[in-house]
Amino acid sequence: MNRLENKVAIVFGAGPNIGGTIAHFFAREGAKVVVSDQNADAARETTEFLASRGFEAVDAAGSALLEEDVERIVETAVERFGQLDAIVNMAGKIHWSSILDMKLEEWNEALPSFPTAGMLTTKHAARAMIKTGRRGSIVHILSTAAHFGEASGAAYTSAKAALLSLARSAAMDLACDGIRVNTVTPCGMEHNLWTMMHDEVFNPDFRPPDRPSFYSRDDYLKNIPLTRFPRASDLAWAAVFLASEESSFCTGIDIPVDGGLRHKYPTWRPGDHARTNINDYVRSIRKTAYGEECEPLFPSND
Ligand SMILES: NC(=O)c1ccc[n+]([C@@H]2O[C@H](COP(=O)([O-])OP(=O)(O)OC[C@H]3O[C@@H](n4cnc5c(N)ncnc54)[C@H](O)[C@@H]3O)[C@@H](O)[C@H]2O)c1
Repeated sequence: MNRLENKVAIVFGAGPNIGGTIAHFFAREGAKVVVSDQNADAARETTEFLASRGFEAVDAAGSALLEEDVERIVETAVERFGQLDAIVNMAGKIHWSSILDMKLEEWNEALPSFPTAGMLTTKHAARAMIKTGRRGSIVHILSTAAHFGEASGAAYTSAKAALLSLARSAAMDLACDGIRVNTVTPCGMEHNLWTMMHDEVFNPDFRPPDRPSFYSRDDYLKNIPLTRFPRASDLAWAAVFLASEESSFCTGIDIPVDGGLRHKYPTWRPGDHARTNINDYVRSIRKTAYGEECEPLFPSND
């Protein structure tokens, strides 16, 4: 409690999954939060949720890819709360395609999206932090895609790797003003199992048409030493740490929130360490919104 007391934060990309959970955890820790999303309904919903819990929050719809929107959203924070101490950004467009089939227009849309949102949010937040005399913290959400090659993932991996490089360089530009820039890297998230990956899990013959070199969720789970997928709350705790004074001497770092996925020795043998079955795993998880359990996925099994 109170780890972010007297701080003002903006979350860019604040629907009910990762961004909304981060906004909720920031508010619970005492921050006043500007909730921003390109989807105005998502921003409003998250703000209403926070207000229903008695937290001070304001919604500011807009795209983190448009400079005039980012400027306006940052101004909203400063006008409303008088300062800016932290931002978390996760905006961008994910695109999957084999390099053999990559269409130039899709590449041109997907590749700059994450680093452009990263550049614009960092630039305008840092200017506002300097103007309001705050030694702030900037956090960008990456993906394991930033650190590995992935079949059919050239656009996404390039975009997230560019965001990683942007964050490290911005950390160097802004260190003299006491502003820190760090990243958080999740692997495939648990909430994707509820919806888009549901068929993957329960249909053994499932193959996504656009990803021939497909790995199953069971393969993925067996490669995570802690034997589960990250939850939005796992990312939110990392973001709270990076936004708080607890990390005041950390800049240019990346926190992997991946259950050990990225740091295994190459001789790791998938599945040897634990016998978790993906079907049992999915049946055991709970659906959450804003980091709170909201309904069981399979009520009949309860
Ligand atoms: N879901 C996963 O398995 C996973 C894994 C690794 C990394 N990530 C990263 O986490 C972040 C969030 O993922 P998620 O699963 O919560 O996605 P999501 O689609 O549930 O949430 C993303 C939110 O960002 C908003 N958004 C997208 N582009 C925007 C823009 N230009 N301006 C403002 N808002 C914008 C969307 O409207 C949405 O509300 C992304 O950066 C994604 O790359 C997700």
